[in-house]
Amino acid sequence: MELKGLSIAITGGASGLGFATARRVIDAGGHVTLIDLPTSDGTSVAEELGSSATFAPADITDRDQFAAALDVADEQGGLRGLVHCAGAGRRMRILDKEGKAGSVEDFEFVIKLNLVGSFNALSLGAERMARLDDLADDNGGGERGAIVLTASVAAFEGQIGQINYSASKAGIVGMTIVAARDLAGKHIRVNTIAPGTMDTPLLSRLREDVRESLAASIPNPSRLGRPSEFGQLAVSMLENAYLNGETIRLDGAIRMAPR
Ligand SMILES: NC(=O)c1ccc[n+]([C@@H]2O[C@H](COP(=O)([O-])OP(=O)(O)OC[C@H]3O[C@@H](n4cnc5c(N)ncnc54)[C@H](O)[C@@H]3O)[C@@H](O)[C@H]2O)c1
Repeated sequence: MELKGLSIAITGGASGLGFATARRVIDAGGHVTLIDLPTSDGTSVAEELGSSATFAPADITDRDQFAAALDVADEQGGLRGLVHCAGAGRRMRILDKEGKAGSVEDFEFVIKLNLVGSFNALSLGAERMARLDDLADDNGGGERGAIVLTASVAAFEGQIGQINYSASKAGIVGMTIVAARDLAGKHIRVNTIAPGTMDTPLLSRLREDVRESLAASIPNPSRLGRPSEFGQLAVSMLENAYLNGETIRLDGAIRMAPR
């Protein structure tokens, strides 16, 4: 679908990959609704992006809040696209330092945020898209909407300390083909991006030497990924009507070591 004039919601839109995607969507002529925590920089980021951006504060693990924020996007002529970037990790081990069983609270926190959050995005986003008519020919035609989820290369080769994060991201990869099949009758496509090491605030919390060694471990190009490169792929996934049910790694060919 051609994004010109369409309403696209972006979760986690106040920072990192979501923010970079918002810029790309606006460049393509779309209107963005940034869905992010009330405590995020959403208000100032939306101001920075200008009249093509609206901030709708919500916690994506709270279905009522998330639904209300998606309604804000829906009011911009109907929700046609959703790029779901909100998510995070929380390092944990299966056994803690004393050899005791790891924290199930840490496990459940990340599963709820990343995996249940992605189900919320799929179900609440599709609910709104399904109510619309198929797009007219001048927007590509034949489809009602498209959803992009965010996994991670940790879905495939998670590192020590990522037992909860890898489980949540592998769940997102697993959901992708099911979601594409389930929503096919509503003419809604679903794709997933599995980023490697992208240069966002999430990674800026790491020590500089860790960032440098991460960059050196990436075969080609040997640098951290640019958030705009994520935004470019997310926009492509929204635009390309034949791309469906697929997870694409965006990682410079990195294959993570155990630690
Ligand atoms: N940066 C990377 O290298 C990398 C690699 C692989 C996967 N990812 C994934 O990409 C996504 C975005 O990461 P990022 O690097 O842009 O991180 P980021 O921290 O820059 O942005 C994440 C945004 O999500 C928001 N958020 C967190 N919890 C939320 C909630 N409950 N409700 C609403 N918003 C919430 C935060 O406020 C923040 O604005 C995450 O799912 C992350 O796991 C990132």
